[in-house]
Amino acid sequence: MNILILGSGGREHALAWATAQNPKCDKLFVAPGNAGTADVASNVALDIENGAAVVDWAKANDIKFVIVGPEAPLAAGVADDLRAAGITTFGPSKAAAQLEASKSFTKAVCDAAHAPTAAYGHFTDKAEAVAYVKAQGAPIVIKADGLAAGKGVVVAMDMPEALAALDDMFGGAHGAAGAEVVVEEFMEGEEASFFVLCDGLEALPFGTAQDHKRVGEGDTGPNTGGMGAYSPAPVMSEAVVAKTMSEIVMPTLVEMDKRGTPFQGVLFVGLMVKDGQPRLVEYNVRFGDPECQVLMMRLGAQAFDHIQAAAEGRLAESQVHWADDHTLTVVMAANGYPGSYEKGSRIGGLAGLPEDSTHMCFHAGTAEVDGAIAAVGGRVLTVTARGESLRVARDAAYGMVERIDWPEGFFRGDIGWRAL
Ligand code: AMP
Ligand code: GLY
Repeated sequence: MNILILGSGGREHALAWATAQNPKCDKLFVAPGNAGTADVASNVALDIENGAAVVDWAKANDIKFVIVGPEAPLAAGVADDLRAAGITTFGPSKAAAQLEASKSFTKAVCDAAHAPTAAYGHFTDKAEAVAYVKAQGAPIVIKADGLAAGKGVVVAMDMPEALAALDDMFGGAHGAAGAEVVVEEFMEGEEASFFVLCDGLEALPFGTAQDHKRVGEGDTGPNTGGMGAYSPAPVMSEAVVAKTMSEIVMPTLVEMDKRGTPFQGVLFVGLMVKDGQPRLVEYNVRFGDPECQVLMMRLGAQAFDHIQAAAEGRLAESQVHWADDHTLTVVMAANGYPGSYEKGSRIGGLAGLPEDSTHMCFHAGTAEVDGAIAAVGGRVLTVTARGESLRVARDAAYGMVERIDWPEGFFRGDIGWRAL
């Protein structure tokens, strides 16, 4: 069948790489894609948040299956438009995508589902928010309610920082996303990401990972979209996974179903784990980036079978075959990221890198310009390797990073440090 993947990041390159290996895949397209996806699929210039444009193109090109990579088209209802046009689509409806698009929606679902998460208050009035923050004390977490590209969260360690964050958000720093603010209890513990394929009341655990969100080594500096990741996450023991499924994921799916907005797609469960007890930090309604890269390298071609089963209501038949392996990915970003950065620098050394089932340099913000690969985004490459241990995977990934010639970029040298 012909398959279309929406998105242009390292996540979508990894999804395309795994999908292209599945014998069910005939023609594979990625919209809009990047220089890496062009190697494993055909790139298509499409506005992926415009449902009508995506549907028209998909129909004209005999697309039988669509995988929606990022949250923006999901929040815009593109999955609904595709399904309404009779095209099988992996990804939640606009209504179910609120689990990521609105933090207060998620909090209300968690309350109804009795899922363990941080205590919180929801505010549209600044004076009320200030009073609540003063009553709770620091550390405390301030979040803009809507999608803010990972930048709408301030973990305030003291009161001046907390009050400054409220000034910022009610002052319109995040546009409409900041008109509503959620204030949360600060949770201690170890963070982990857990992925679950879902279809209504069916759920299939799809792997664990740990991400490094801070830009600097030792997990310091501003938050980013993620500077590296590895899978599996040691903190996600079988017991913690089982608890997460029974206390958080299943009750959430039941509540979503009850509300008439069943969730289909991948649920990205962001957790804080302390003394074996998981608590929900946040949901996302799509794969993580760069977590997807480490999951896809471990899963390979079977990934598409399970994704298809979720979209076709056959998840109960699915069984993931895990090897006893480890993957690690190192993000290479443009100097200046997550602040402002230059575009257009040339990246050398990519042609000689190994590309096989244990080594892949997945592209994110790249484009081909005059036969060379140019950096056109903040996060530019995600250099990924697999091995029998995390150490072997890490050494292989950094071995590839060393061969990449890109003075205008940087990376963290300590991905995986917590687990190693
Ligand atoms: P989010 O965008 O909700 O994932 O938040 C970004 C990051 O802020 C998370 O990955 C956590 O590291 C941190 N964070 C968010 N909420 C909390 C919380 N309630 N307690 C502690 N840390 C948090
Ligand atoms: N790496 C975190 C995210 O994709 O949201």
